[in-house]
Amino acid sequence: MASVEMRNIVKRYGDGYPAVNDVSLDIADGEFMILVGPSGCGKSTLLRMIVGLEDITSGDMVIGGRRVNDKAPRERNLAMVFQNYALYPHLSVFENIAFPLRLQRAPEEVVQRKVREAADVLELHEHLDRKPANLSGGQRQRVAMGRAIVRDADAFLFDEPLSNLDAKLRGQMRTEIARLQRRLGITTVYVTHDQTEAMTLGDRVCVLRKGVIQQVASPRELYEQPQNLFVAGFIGSPPMNFLPARLRGTRLDTPFGEIRLEERRAADVGDRDLVLVGVRPEHFEDATLVDEAKKHLGTTFRATVDVTEWLGDSQYAYIPYEAPEEVTLQLKELSRELDSDQLRTQAVVSIDAASRIREGHEAEFWLDSRAVHVFDPATGVNLTRDPEAGAALTRQAAGDRAEQVEQARAVGLTVDGRIRP
Ligand SMILES: Nc1ncnc2c1ncn2[C@@H]1O[C@H](COP(=O)(O)OP(=O)(O)OP(=O)(O)O)[C@@H](O)[C@H]1O
Ligand SMILES: [Mg+2]
Repeated sequence: MASVEMRNIVKRYGDGYPAVNDVSLDIADGEFMILVGPSGCGKSTLLRMIVGLEDITSGDMVIGGRRVNDKAPRERNLAMVFQNYALYPHLSVFENIAFPLRLQRAPEEVVQRKVREAADVLELHEHLDRKPANLSGGQRQRVAMGRAIVRDADAFLFDEPLSNLDAKLRGQMRTEIARLQRRLGITTVYVTHDQTEAMTLGDRVCVLRKGVIQQVASPRELYEQPQNLFVAGFIGSPPMNFLPARLRGTRLDTPFGEIRLEERRAADVGDRDLVLVGVRPEHFEDATLVDEAKKHLGTTFRATVDVTEWLGDSQYAYIPYEAPEEVTLQLKELSRELDSDQLRTQAVVSIDAASRIREGHEAEFWLDSRAVHVFDPATGVNLTRDPEAGAALTRQAAGDRAEQVEQARAVGLTVDGRIRP
């Protein structure tokens, strides 16, 4: 068990390209930290520098209070769970889990006890005599984690461990990893480019773009109080809509009509002509289904629906809009960077599944003005972000987390991850 502190970490590869650029990040003892971002943003490089598989160009890597820049991977006592599980096909599940203990020449009774304890936590005891080839992907993943557990590693490091599993199994494994990490309370750093994993697994999420940290916060803070256009567009699916707008006092003129900002928020936006208004799909609704009492809190507008997608429990409608060329170009660039194929001059709105809005027809929509964000199109900065509200969300997540650790302790696991005798 250990904390991981990174101070101004830079990684330049041979060609001089800064894959990781001045990253400072503190991961608390027992915390589950997610590193997320599009392909090539430096996630794996950062993880590999924590484990010691990659040299650090400059900065300090401090694990458990000890600077480890010059320490070999073996001396760092971390457990990397690889994507391909790296199991030995000729060894039983038991021996696969026992492998690091055998290497350390641990006494037989220690091997027996530790492997069985790990198998209990991982619910693998029925499979200890089987060979990895006969296991499901999820079971193999657990064996790989078992191997990390018996080592009493100070931290677990995962690099996209679920990316080659099918969607259903990925969902199951996601829940399983989350549950295990809570029970074990072992500091965990988990790399993914899947924003669902990022949102559901971590205590906090670190969003990277081109080797630079964009924001580190609880999933809820990222979602509700994004720092900039990039984070706002990356977190959330379907993604946030960005509408071009002109600010007139406290009114934003958008392709969907006027949105009124509270005075304080309009003041935050300041004196700007063109801005981008960010609205999440769920902040739209079929206007005929909105409570009259609530309507004045938002804007009602008419628009022609291009496509609708009815999913049983929810429904999406796609509404194209016109945007000035400068905005179109910028939104295209953002989509490209976010690996998104979304055509951004079309709003995706989430409406009640009961709505009878039809494709190709005009319909009346409502948009919740309270939930919009306003971004500076040049710098991408979120001008309406409320740092206080954001910090409160992350504090709350930390509190919930402490409670979960407490509960895990009550069912028989100590916070330091060891099973009580
Ligand atoms: N051995 C290397 N030599 C030179 N450049 C490298 C090397 N490994 C990675 N890079 C570059 O460093 C950047 C970050 O790579 P990294 O593998 O950390 O990205 P990633 O975020 O893990 O992406 P992905 O989601 O595709 O796995 C990329 O631009 C990549 O081309
Ligand atoms: Mg990678």
